Amino acid sequence: MRLTEVAQHWLAEIIEQGDAVVDATLGNGADALFLAQQIGKDGVLFGFDVQQQAMDSSQALLAGEPCQQHLLLAGHETMKAHIPRQFHGNIKAIMFNLGWLPNSDKSIITHADTTITALEQSLELLAPDGRMTVMVYPGHQGGDSEAKHVIKWLSVICQPPLFNLNKIVLPNHPTAPILLQVTKLKV
Ligand SMILES: C[S@@+](CC[C@H](N)C(=O)[O-])C[C@H]1O[C@@H](n2cnc3c(N)ncnc32)[C@H](O)[C@@H]1O
Repeated sequence: MRLTEVAQHWLAEIIEQGDAVVDATLGNGADALFLAQQIGKDGVLFGFDVQQQAMDSSQALLAGEPCQQHLLLAGHETMKAHIPRQFHGNIKAIMFNLGWLPNSDKSIITHADTTITALEQSLELLAPDGRMTVMVYPGHQGGDSEAKHVIKWLSVICQPPLFNLNKIVLPNHPTAPILLQVTKLKV
């Protein structure tokens, strides 16, 4: 199973029909489509990306999905300002798939500082028992530094009793993607 599928599997365990969820890096929309299918017609999907191409691809892929959709051409570091207050503390799942848009301009990548700002906001937005997945790419140009900062930050902040952190690191593959999972614990 690919790590992107593991991330979806982890979220499918906790998402219910009608939930509110966030795709923090829409890209081509594959993760957003997965989220839309999980939440069904009563669910609410918020999606963020900084590229118009990502908006267009995601909109096309999500066209047949009945959930409420808010796709925003905006950096995920602004998510708290864009997501209405009634959803703060009520978001069930958030997905981050960092790096660049496949088959596109590889100079447009996620960066540690804005990613960590977005992760910080995500921890506030998550519901109790909500879950976030973060895929980092140490093998991409610029991805190594981002991966180190993100993993270090999550490892310090996401500890019990407030959070639980899991990660999958492939042994002996220093450039392979790394998948992290944060669950917000009920306190
Ligand atoms: C690996 S792709 C995401 C793949 C996507 N989840 C999918 O299923 O196709 C990473 C995306 O992050 C976007 N990105 C870069 N900086 C961003 C930011 N500050 N906020 C939101 N998205 C950003 C890129 O434009 C790119 O589309």
